Formats: sequence, structure tokens, C-alpha cells
Amino acid sequence: MNNSQNWIDRGLAHVAKTYGRYPLVAASGEGCWLTDIDGKQYLDFLAGVAVNNLGHCHPKVVAALQDQAGKLLHCSNYFHIPQQIELAEILCENSFGDRVFFCNSGAEANEAALKLVRKYSADNYGDNRFEIITAQGSFHGRTLATISATGQEKIRAGFAPMIPGFKYVPFGDIQAIKAAITPQTCAIMLEPIQGEGGINCPPDGYLQAVRELCDEQELLLVFDEIQVGLGRTGKLFAYQHDNIEPDVMTLAKALAAGPPIGAMIAKEKYAETLSPGTHGSTFGGNPLLAAAGVAAMKVLLEDHIIDNCVAMGDYLRTKLEQLQDKYPFIINVRGRGLIWGMELSIEGGHIVKIALERGLLINCTVEKVLRFVPPLIVTPQEIDQMIEILDQIFSEIETGE
Ligand SMILES: Cc1ncc(COP(=O)(O)O)c(C=O)c1O
Repeated sequence: MNNSQNWIDRGLAHVAKTYGRYPLVAASGEGCWLTDIDGKQYLDFLAGVAVNNLGHCHPKVVAALQDQAGKLLHCSNYFHIPQQIELAEILCENSFGDRVFFCNSGAEANEAALKLVRKYSADNYGDNRFEIITAQGSFHGRTLATISATGQEKIRAGFAPMIPGFKYVPFGDIQAIKAAITPQTCAIMLEPIQGEGGINCPPDGYLQAVRELCDEQELLLVFDEIQVGLGRTGKLFAYQHDNIEPDVMTLAKALAAGPPIGAMIAKEKYAETLSPGTHGSTFGGNPLLAAAGVAAMKVLLEDHIIDNCVAMGDYLRTKLEQLQDKYPFIINVRGRGLIWGMELSIEGGHIVKIALERGLLINCTVEKVLRFVPPLIVTPQEIDQMIEILDQIFSEIETGE
């Protein structure tokens, strides 16, 4: 029995069954490559689902973790934590935000945002103004409040009753938002590009129109940039493409380029509503994770990572569109920077499995959309390698091999 099978069997026996896992047992990673326990290498165009934006084990992030691990692993948020302060400064200097709440995941960042918008509304407009409008096809996390916010029935199924006060509208439709607003509405929460929902980009002008509506109606605008933030779309934050600012933004995934950390960033006017005792997290922004976050942010901002994302994004788009011209079962290619979806007329799951066998990691969302979210340091050669594997698989599908 090889090492992989042994681990797979042990995992199946005792690890929660919450994921349909592929038969890959991860051992190590470097750059855009993941190596399994048997030494097989995989070209990683999934990047931990947009977490490993700097590639696997970026040396500067690893060094920061090693250094911090020898000094202080954890310290309560009852005390001031320099690494957390530095990370908050970097995030505020480079965004619309004035204040950052740190947590450990995307769902927790969104929980913090949901609590903030409700409390701000309660403090300023009274108790009965708590509704939050989100989009159909959205994904905001797996906790009860964030599945309540998520506009996908399949994510909520079996967990009723939901947290009350969420309304879902079609993504990209400004009239639908207008129609959904009532005197009880306090906020609108959107992903600037929907990730899990199938890499859905809104029509031009939509996000600006939502911003204007929020200003008119005194609603808070929350952008969930957990998947698309931190350089992924070719700007540091996706909202920067539209020359607007949200009032609140959530981040996680790539923030420390691997280690788990989340953040909720808000303008001062709104952030101050979360006064001492109203929210918290034991591990949020702890010295180890914040040190990794500082290192990752410095690499992202100083090492031309986003320039590479823009250039490689254009290259990947061209290559994906060439495949679209070649194969009739590719309906659509969409995305921005280095987040791309390829919508097929056939199920994508088996393509993901074949790609894995051939040493390529991609995934499939909403059954028929292949997702490409490689590290932002990807090279043209690696894109060519990926396209070659995909092209081969597609040609076999077309000829029925
Ligand atoms: C847009 C968005 N929001 C929230 C989340 C939840 O993040 P986490 O899994 O870290 O809780 C995800 C995860 O895929 C996401 O893509």
C-alpha cells in the first residue's frame, strides 16, 4: 500500500465527513507547486481556494512565522499586540478603512460585519431596522449567520430556522435592490465578484449604483472581499476598479498567504459602534498570525505581485478564450486579474478529477464552472502547462476517448 492510501483510509475513519476530498495527500509546497506524500507534483491553479496568493511557503512569510514563533505565539487581546497594530496600519493606509477587527476566518469576518451593521443601525435608528440585503448566488461562510446571509438554498438546506432579516436579490440588478429596500433595511452586503457562485462579474456601473443607493437611503455598504481582495483581481481591493468605497469590507483567505486570519475593516464612523465588550475573538490577530499577515502584505505591496497578476491575468484570459474558440462545450469565460471561471455546457466535476490525475489542481463551482485561481506569482510557462493539460482533456472529451 502506498503512503497516500494509508492516510486516506485513516482520514476516512476519523475526520469529519464535511468535504468530498480528492485522493491527494498533501505533503509540501513551493511556488505554484504542491507535492503529495508519494512525491508526485501538482501544478496548483486552486491555491487553497485563493489563499496561497504568494505561492506555497513564501520564504518571507515562513521566515516571519519562524521568527515570531520563537518569541511569542499567543497573547490575549486584553493587551496591545505590536504585530496586530502593524497589520492594522498597513490595511488602513492602503484602503478606505480606519479601523480593523481581527478574527480567524472569512465567516468570522462576515459575522463581525453583520454585527457591526446591525448595531450601528440600532444605535442610530432604533431597534427595528435590521434587514440586510444580499445577492442570490452569494457565499458568505458556513456559520449560522453567514449561511443566513448566503443567497444559495443548497448551503442553507437542513439548518432552519435561519437568522431572520436577510433578503436575497438577483446579483447585478439595481432595480431589484431598490424594490427590496424597506424601512427595516440597514445594509447591503455583496461580493464585488461572486466567487463560489460561479465567478459572476456584475455589469458595469452596478457597484457604483449600489453605492449611490446606499448613500441616498442611509444604508451601510459591505463588500465581502474574502475571495477577490488582496490583489486577486489586479488591484489591491476589487472595489478600487469602480472608484467607490464600501463602508465595511471583510478579508481572510490570502491575508497571511496561508496561516488563518480574517479581518473586518470599517470607516471610523461605523467602527466605533463596536465598543469594548460588544465583540471579540480569543485568537483574532494573535502575534503569530499577525506577523505572517504583516510579512504577506509587505510582499504583496512591495514585490510587484499585483503587476504580475495583471500581466498574467491578461495572458490567462487569452489562453482560456482560445480554448473557448476551439471547444463548443465551453459557453463562457469570465473573470478579472487571476480569478477566472469557465462555464461549460457539461458537468465539470469529472474534468477536475482527470486534471488531478494529470498533475493539475483546479476546481468546479456550481456544477459547471471550472475555477482558476492560481497564485499571483504564476509564470507564463506555468499557464502554458496548465492550458496544455486542459486542452488535452478537452480534446479527449470532444472525440469521446
Ligand atoms: C466570498 C467569501 N466569503 C466568505 C467565505 C468564508 O470564508 P471561510 O471559509 O474562511 O470562513 C468564503 C470562502 O470561500 C468566500 O469565498
